[in-house]
Amino acid sequence: MTAINSVTDLTIEGDVAVITLNSPPVNALSANVREGLFEGFKAAIAEPAAKAIVLICEGRTFIAGADITEFGGASKGPGLNEVQDMMEGSPKPVVAAIHGTALGGGLEVALCAHYRVAVPSAKCGLPEVNLGLLPGAGGTQRLPRIVGAQRAMEMMTSGQHVPAKECLAMGLVDELAEEGKLRDAAIAYARKLVAENKPLVKVRDNDTKVAADRGKPEIFADFRKANARKFRGFLAPEYNIRCIEAAVNLPFDEGMAVERKLFMELMTGSQSAAQRYSFFAERTAAKIPGIADDVPLIPVKKVGVIGAGTMGGGIAMNFANAGIPVVIVEQKQEPLDRGLATIRKNYERTASRGGLTAAQVEERCALITGSLSMEDSFKDVDLVIEAVFERMDIKKDIFAKLDAICKPGAILATNTSGLNIDEIASVTKRPEAVIGLHFFSPANVMKLLEIVRADHTSDSVIATSMKLAKQIGKIAVLVGVCPGFVGNRILGARQREAQKLVMEGAMPWDIDRVLYDFGFPMGPFAMSDLAGLDIGWVKEKSNGESIRDVLCEADRRGQKTGAGYYDYDENRNAKPSAFTEKVINDFIVKSGANPRKISDEEILERCIFPMINEGLKILEEGKAIRASDIDVVWQNGYGWPVYRGGPMFYGDLVGPEKVLAKMKEFQATMGDQFKPAALLEKVVAEGKKFGQL
Ligand code: 3HC
Repeated sequence: MTAINSVTDLTIEGDVAVITLNSPPVNALSANVREGLFEGFKAAIAEPAAKAIVLICEGRTFIAGADITEFGGASKGPGLNEVQDMMEGSPKPVVAAIHGTALGGGLEVALCAHYRVAVPSAKCGLPEVNLGLLPGAGGTQRLPRIVGAQRAMEMMTSGQHVPAKECLAMGLVDELAEEGKLRDAAIAYARKLVAENKPLVKVRDNDTKVAADRGKPEIFADFRKANARKFRGFLAPEYNIRCIEAAVNLPFDEGMAVERKLFMELMTGSQSAAQRYSFFAERTAAKIPGIADDVPLIPVKKVGVIGAGTMGGGIAMNFANAGIPVVIVEQKQEPLDRGLATIRKNYERTASRGGLTAAQVEERCALITGSLSMEDSFKDVDLVIEAVFERMDIKKDIFAKLDAICKPGAILATNTSGLNIDEIASVTKRPEAVIGLHFFSPANVMKLLEIVRADHTSDSVIATSMKLAKQIGKIAVLVGVCPGFVGNRILGARQREAQKLVMEGAMPWDIDRVLYDFGFPMGPFAMSDLAGLDIGWVKEKSNGESIRDVLCEADRRGQKTGAGYYDYDENRNAKPSAFTEKVINDFIVKSGANPRKISDEEILERCIFPMINEGLKILEEGKAIRASDIDVVWQNGYGWPVYRGGPMFYGDLVGPEKVLAKMKEFQATMGDQFKPAALLEKVVAEGKKFGQL
C-alpha cells in the first residue's frame, strides 16, 4: 500500500489498482481530497501492473459532495475538473465503488468513472438544489445522458437520494454488490471488464437518451407548470432545468459552458448563500455549549401522551413512526376513540398516496394504544408529553399527578406553546425532569421542535430530548422560558404590526400580498382564516370591540364558514371582502385616525424589522443560544422562505445599520414599540453582523 497523501492510499491488488479515500466525516471533495484523487489516478494509470482502477471510500459514505466549507474561499490544489478529466480519459477502465451516499460532486466524480458498482443500501443524488445551486461538475450534462431529461429534472430539482436498486434500473449503477463486500465485488467487476475487453464508456459521449428528448420542448414546459407552486421564488430549480435543456439541445462542451455560467450565477447570489447557511445552521443547532458529549442519556422505550386531540395525536404518530410504543391518555372514551380513529385515518391517507404499505399502517396503529387512566398507563413510561388545553391550573394539576405516578428518571414534558414551564415544574418534586417539547401543528408533519429548557432541567434530560428529536425526524432548537418562547414571541411582533397597519389604512390583502411575495406561503390574515378566527374567541364575552369580534359575530369565522377576512368561493379561493373593508373603515373612523396609502416597502419593513429586533432581545436575554437558531425556528416552523435564510440572516442581507435606522425612524413617528434592542445598537456600533451572535 502506498500513501498518496494524508487522505488517499493506492494499493495494487494483482492487476487492479485500488484508490482508497478516507477523509471523515463524509469524504467531501476538499483541496486535500482532490489532490489525493489527482495524484492517485496519475499513479494508478502509470502503474504497469494495473489493468483497471477501482475508486472506493472508507468510513460512512462514498464522496458526499464538494466541501461546502470551501465555497467562497480561494481555490487551492487541483480543480475537480482536472480530477474528472484524468478519470474519464484514463486508458484503463475506472470503476467507482459506492456505499453510503454518492451526492453532488461525489456522484459527478462517479459519473466520470467508466462503470459504477454499489451496495444495495447506497444512494445516489444531486442535492445541490437544496443549497440553492446546480451540479457544477458536469452533473447537469452527464445525468440526463443516462436517465433522460424527465428523470434528471425530477432528481435535480428535488435533490432526492435515489436508492441503489432504482439506480441500477435506470442505468446509473451497473451492478449491485453484496452488502459489506463492496471492495472485493468492485475488484472482481474490474477484472471482468478487463477479461471481457469491455469498452471505456464515457458518459459524455452517450447521446441516445438526450437525442430522444430533443425537439420536445413540452417535456420542460409541462414540468415547469406542474411544479410552479413548489418552485415559487427559488432560482435554483429553474436554473437546473435550463442546464438539462442545454444537455438535450447542445453538444456536450457547450452544455458544460451553460452549466458553468449558471452555476457561478447561483454561487455568487444571495439565495445560495442563504441555503448554504441554513445547511450549517441546522447542524449547529444540535450542538449545545456546556453539555458534555458523554452526559448519560435516558433510554426512551415507551412514551405517554396526554390528550388525544389534533396535537396529542400528531405527537404520538411521530413516535410510532420511529417504532416507539405510545400510550395516549384521555379523560373520556369518546374523544379518545375519535383521536385514535383520526390517527388511523391519517395513516390510511398516507397509504392511499403510496407512502406506506397496508402492513405498515397496521404496525404503526398497533404501537399507539389508548387509555383513560394515567395511573394505569404511565407507571412504566420513560417520557410523558402533556398536550392539553393551554391553562396553567390544568397543567399544574397534571404535573402534580405525573410526579406521583411516573417512575424515577422519567422525563416529564409539556407541549405548551408559551406558558411558564418553571411554574409548571414547581409543582413537582423533580423539576430537573421537566422540559418543554413544543411541537408545531400538524405535529406529525412539521419539522420543528422547540425544546424548552427550564431553570432546573438537567443536562441529561436536555441531551436525551435533542437526540430523541433527531430519532423522530425533527429539527430541534433549544430555547429558554419566556412568553411565546422563540417562535411565537417573534410571531407576536409581526402580528402586532400587521394589526396596526390595518388600522392605518392597509387592507389585510395588501399585507398578505406583500408577505406572500416575500416568500411566505401565506400572510397573517389568510393564515387566521385558515386556522379559524374564533380560536380563543368567546361568544359570550364578545362586545364588538375588535375587527375580529365583528367578523366572528357575523359568522365570518374563516375558511370553514366560507368567509373571514376574505370571502371564499366554493373552491376556497380567497377574494378581498367588501364587508371586511367596511368593518375596518368603520373602526378607523371611530378611532379618529386618517387612513393613508401605505407602500409595500413600508408594510414589509414594519412587519419584518420588529421581528429582527425581537430576535435580538431574545438573544440579549439568553433565550436562544445563537442567532442562527432563531433562523432555524422560523424556517422550519413558520414558513420563512428558505432562500432568505431566516429573520436574522435577512437582517444581515439588508444590513444591521439599515434595520437600526428604520427602527429609529419608526420609533420617532410611531412610538416606543419600535425601540431598538440594546443589542441592535451594539451590533451596529461594533460594525458586526447578526450572524456573529
Ligand atoms: N461539505 C462539508 N461538510 C459536510 C458536507 C459537505 N458537502 N456534508 C456534510 N458535512 C458535514 C456536516 O456539516 C457535519 O459536520 P458536523 O458533524 O461538524 O456538524 C458532518 O459532515 C456530518 O453530516 P451530517 O450530520 O449531515 O451527517 P448525516 O450522516 O446525517 O448525513 C449526508 C450525511 C447525507 C452526507 C449529509 O451530510 C448531506 O446531505 N450532506 C450534503 C450533501 C450535499 O449537499 N452535497 C452536494 C454539495 S455541493 C456540490 O457538490 C457542488 C458540486 O456540484 C460542484
